[in-house]
Amino acid sequence: MGGGIAQVVAASGRRVSLHDSFPGATERGLAAMRKSLERLAEKGGADPDEVLARVETMDDLVPADLMIEAVIEDAGVKTDVFKRADAILPPESVLASNTSSIPIGLLAATTARPDRVIGMHFFNPVPVLQLVEIVRGRETSDETADAITELAHDLGKTPAVANDFPGFVSNRILMPYINEAVWALYDGVAEAEAIDTIAKLGFAHPMGPLALADLIGLDTCVAIMEVLRTGLNDEKYAPCPLLCELVGEGKLGRKSGDGFYRYD
Ligand code: CAA
Repeated sequence: MGGGIAQVVAASGRRVSLHDSFPGATERGLAAMRKSLERLAEKGGADPDEVLARVETMDDLVPADLMIEAVIEDAGVKTDVFKRADAILPPESVLASNTSSIPIGLLAATTARPDRVIGMHFFNPVPVLQLVEIVRGRETSDETADAITELAHDLGKTPAVANDFPGFVSNRILMPYINEAVWALYDGVAEAEAIDTIAKLGFAHPMGPLALADLIGLDTCVAIMEVLRTGLNDEKYAPCPLLCELVGEGKLGRKSGDGFYRYD
């Protein structure tokens, strides 16, 4: 998602520094950005070379007006990034997280600027989906919330504001829906294709819940369910054993080539 976010920010005319600690990740991100920009250019979008010229890759975090963190859905990894960002970015800069579920207050507490920490939650594929869920922590200032709302509009997105609860609004609704679809498969109610067809055509969704889980990443789905289970202290949010089994086997969905479906 980091590549998708970098793409829409660069397409809005801003300069972006892309950093990832995994070897080769920024190169993969740039390749995906080029592919996406070429698809958009065919429909009259900006020149891919022009947009990509505003993106540079960096070996570490750098001083900037805004950081948008999009690392894995792991509170420890995210808090480490926020601690580092707090030391490197100027004190007036905003630190935003693309987290799907982890409380903004937890990230803010690791910094000396909790008023400038906010959730800026994009949706996959970022260049296509319109929503940015803006999550206000208890200490997020009006100034920060207004600036990030304005930025979301400027990126051509539609912002909607949520308060800081586990899973916010989007994943409090989406993940139990996906998890229940996995239970339906696990219980033998129907095959994967039938479950997805029923949801797709019956509810007019662009894709079924199992295909969507593959798009999001099954490890991310489990991580979000665990945040809901712990944060809301309710076992109804326990991830289905089948979801955990697939993750244990390294079947993470599209990114690993195998999940509820196979991807070549
Ligand atoms: N970049 C640019 N354009 C893209 C693109 C990309 N990465 N991906 C798709 N598109 C474009 C295609 O070019 C195509 O454009 P035209 O209609 O002009 O031809 C259009 O989007 C549709 O794409 P496809 O024809 O390839 O396929 P599709 O019609 O099946 O759409 C989809 C694909 C956009 C992914 C659609 O199935 C969809 O919207 N699915 C639901 C996705 C969703 O729910 N995402 C949210 C997940 S939750 C999340 O991300 C956050 C979280 O916290 C877990």
